[in-house]
Amino acid sequence: MPAGLQLGVNVDHVATIRQARGTRFPDPVLAASLAELAGADQITVHLREDRRHIQDRDVTILRQTVQVPLNLEMAATPEMVRIAIATLPDTVTLVPEKRQERTTEGGLDVVGQAATLAPAIAALREAGIVVSLFIDPDPAQVAKSAELGAHTVELHTGDYCEAPTALLREQRLEQLRAAAEQAHNLSLRVAAGHGLDYKNVQEVARLPYMVELNIGHAIVARAVLVGLERAVREMVEAMRLA
Ligand code: PXP
Repeated sequence: MPAGLQLGVNVDHVATIRQARGTRFPDPVLAASLAELAGADQITVHLREDRRHIQDRDVTILRQTVQVPLNLEMAATPEMVRIAIATLPDTVTLVPEKRQERTTEGGLDVVGQAATLAPAIAALREAGIVVSLFIDPDPAQVAKSAELGAHTVELHTGDYCEAPTALLREQRLEQLRAAAEQAHNLSLRVAAGHGLDYKNVQEVARLPYMVELNIGHAIVARAVLVGLERAVREMVEAMRLA
């Protein structure tokens, strides 16, 4: 692994399973602690406006329990900025949010939304929070992110991960490489995420100036499968003891 590259583990999906049943488990707070014990460098959660997975209580408790940096993904709304300033995560990653989407689709339009983003970035910076903007690897978006005072850009890797052909994949990787270089030259920290899995992570991890990857779906999906055999054995044992 390139020296200095950090892994942020996104535990939203653990909360998705909990919300599906309205139970208290599985608790994303416990999942975050386990991720930390396994070597996660950062815990990432997305508090969505519709609270479909992570709840306010999760963010509050994570702030009290997580030892590594806590990265709160959120929309740049007055409500979310208020919550962030009250909770003080180490980092806020501003993301676009549409109610009907399954997950975050596309990066922030920093150029088009500058008037909304500028005061949110300023308020978060003022509170001592590191501000990251989740953007597509587009030169105009990178330049505007620096202009608005972001500390970090998280480059959206979704298009690269979903490229239908090898040629398109290579082209999209080149866009990520160019955006990483541009961001570094503008003194921005460079992160990336979305759609990364155990195979496609390699090329992104090798990109220049990359310091952080945020990964959720692939890790939680794998945890379900690698943990299933043990979970079934434990239930068989519980029944045998009856
Ligand atoms: N980074 C950001 C900004 C995201 O919105 C997400 C999805 O919540 C991720 C990283 C993680 O993406 P995935 O779950 O596909 O690994």
